[in-house]
Amino acid sequence: MTQKIKAGVVGWPIAHSRSPLIHGAWLETFGIEGSYEKLAIEPGTFQARIRKLVAEGYVGVNVTIPHKEAALAIADERDAASLAIGAANTLVFKDGKIWATNTDAFGFTEYLKSKGRDWAGKRALVIGAGGAARAVLFGLRELGLSHVDLANRTVDKARVLATHFATDTFTITPLALSDIAGFLGKADLVVNTTSLGMVSQPPLEISLEGLKPGALVYDLVYVPLETEFLRKAKALGHETLDGLGMLLHQARPGFEAWFGARPQVTEDLRQRIIDDLKEH
Ligand code: ATR
Repeated sequence: MTQKIKAGVVGWPIAHSRSPLIHGAWLETFGIEGSYEKLAIEPGTFQARIRKLVAEGYVGVNVTIPHKEAALAIADERDAASLAIGAANTLVFKDGKIWATNTDAFGFTEYLKSKGRDWAGKRALVIGAGGAARAVLFGLRELGLSHVDLANRTVDKARVLATHFATDTFTITPLALSDIAGFLGKADLVVNTTSLGMVSQPPLEISLEGLKPGALVYDLVYVPLETEFLRKAKALGHETLDGLGMLLHQARPGFEAWFGARPQVTEDLRQRIIDDLKEH
């Protein structure tokens, strides 16, 4: 008898995670004998619980708040993305070893690429300088953009990220949120990486008047799917991208590594998650 392939998502809290729905749908599509569970891991018990999952024959896990840094620390091997971002959201267990990656940047860029534009040499305005911004900066650098204007409430944090991610061909200007207006006219892409605009959070109060015509506006928030920020962008005639696309695409590499099949992000899958978000 073949053994069921076991994977899951670890976090605290974990009840809200949509990852089991995404991976469950793919397991069904491929007819794979596998499972993908929600695993609640209390802070302080991460190391021991992960070692136990390895011993129990799990093939790996997705990792969410608050364990992404601990996930990077526990790994035997780490890829370039997880090292640059400073956090891992995907662990693969193989031959008793733990391999770490961060697929947030991949998810971010794959959804962006699905809109079929060439981003090489282009310029972006990124809002926020937290963990999500780190993944976005890594992704934009990979895509070959030439410059990012990085706006954050705490400018010092934007400065730290600018130093960390900038290269000779990928320059970053840190700035205050209040100075954004002067940079809108130059941006080919605007990204909100903060949680502002998410349900139960204040809105992201930034005017997009004066944004470069044709610029694309991407919000990493996915509850609600259409934030006030995206609604404003649409009203001004800009193409928009929501955080659900990134969430779906970031799940792909883990699934492939654990279950050995290459999954697709389909309109049907997207609708399933939208329906679930409406119910909860
Ligand atoms: P994540 O990992 O989701 O990026 P984070 O690391 O806590 O979360 O970062 C949150 C980001 O949202 C930061 O850029 C934060 O700005 P500060 O660095 O100044 O804290 C931004 N943010 C959160 N609440 C905000 C608010 N009310 N106004 C402006 N920016 C806010």
